This record gives sequence, structure tokens and C-alpha cells, in this order.
Amino acid sequence: MKLKISTRLCVFVLAAMVASSCSDSKSDNPVTPAPEDKKVSFAGDIKPILQANGCLNCHGDRGGLSLATVEAIMKGGDHGPAVIPGNAASSNLLTKISATPPFGARMPFNGTPVKDRDVELLTTWVNQGAKDN
Ligand code: HEC
Repeated sequence: MKLKISTRLCVFVLAAMVASSCSDSKSDNPVTPAPEDKKVSFAGDIKPILQANGCLNCHGDRGGLSLATVEAIMKGGDHGPAVIPGNAASSNLLTKISATPPFGARMPFNGTPVKDRDVELLTTWVNQGAKDN
């Protein structure tokens, strides 16, 4: 009997914890992290990152996916557009440089993973609409 009560209490406490953690995250203000405030430019920020990480060595203008221009990025490769403007989480450009790419290998292929700071800029650029700026 005692055991049953403490099990119920435990379930109740767990449920309360889950409920409160949910409501906490909902009541949070949608405060955008600092990097989102910066206007990210394709020519000034993004292209240099793609260059520095060797992306353009393999994804230049020699067929297949090209990352050389915004137009080419939108055209994409075998798996569709490399970027979905406003949606970094669903953009191949970002998912392919993550530790768990949805298909194929982590980019840069056989290279050093892209630095967090660069990933942040790429993410911000896509979420700001992937403008050709
Ligand atoms: C050494 C050559 C090489 C480099 C460098 C490289 N890639 Fe790739 N990339 C490939 C190959 C090969 C594939 C196809 C196989 C795969 O998906 O893993 C590919 C596929 C992709 C795709 C998926 C295209 C599609 O639609 O199927 C994306 C997006 C991509 N690369 C982005 C990048 C980015 C961003 C960088 C730089 C951080 C990069 N790649 C660096 C060789 C490279």
C-alpha cells in the first residue's frame, strides 16, 4: 500500500515538473539572440565563409550543386534547393554541415567541421530571408 502511494506521488511530481517546464518555455518572451540583430550579407559574410571552408572548391560552377551565387544556392542539387529562405532548420546548407546530416556525409566533405560562429552567421542569413545582399 505504501509503495502504491509513493509511486503515485512520484508520477504526480513528474507530471508537475513536465507541466511547469512546458509552461515556462511558452511564457518566455521570444527574445532573439544577439547575432539575429546583425544584418548578414551574402557578399560580405556568407561567400567568404563558403570560400574559407572549401565549399566552393567542390561546389563551384562545374555541374552539380553550386554554392557560388544565391541564385545557384536556390536552384540547389539532387536534394532540392540548398536553402529554404527563413527556415535554416530545413535548409540542406545547414543540415549538411551539422553533425547529423539527413543524407550523405557531413560537409565540408572530409574536411574540418564549420566553426560555430560561421554556422551561426549562415543560420542568421537564411533566417533573414537568404537575401542576395
Ligand atoms: C571535397 C569536396 C566537397 C567539399 C569541400 C564540400 N562538399 Fe558538399 N558535397 C560533396 C559531395 C561529393 C556531395 C554529394 C554527397 C553527399 O551528399 O554527401 C556533397 C553534397 C552537398 C550538399 C547536398 C546537395 C544535394 O542537394 O544533394 C550540400 C548542401 C553541400 N554539399 C554543402 C556543402 C557545404 C556548405 C560545404 C562547405 C562547408 C561543402 N558542401 C563542402 C563534396 C564536397
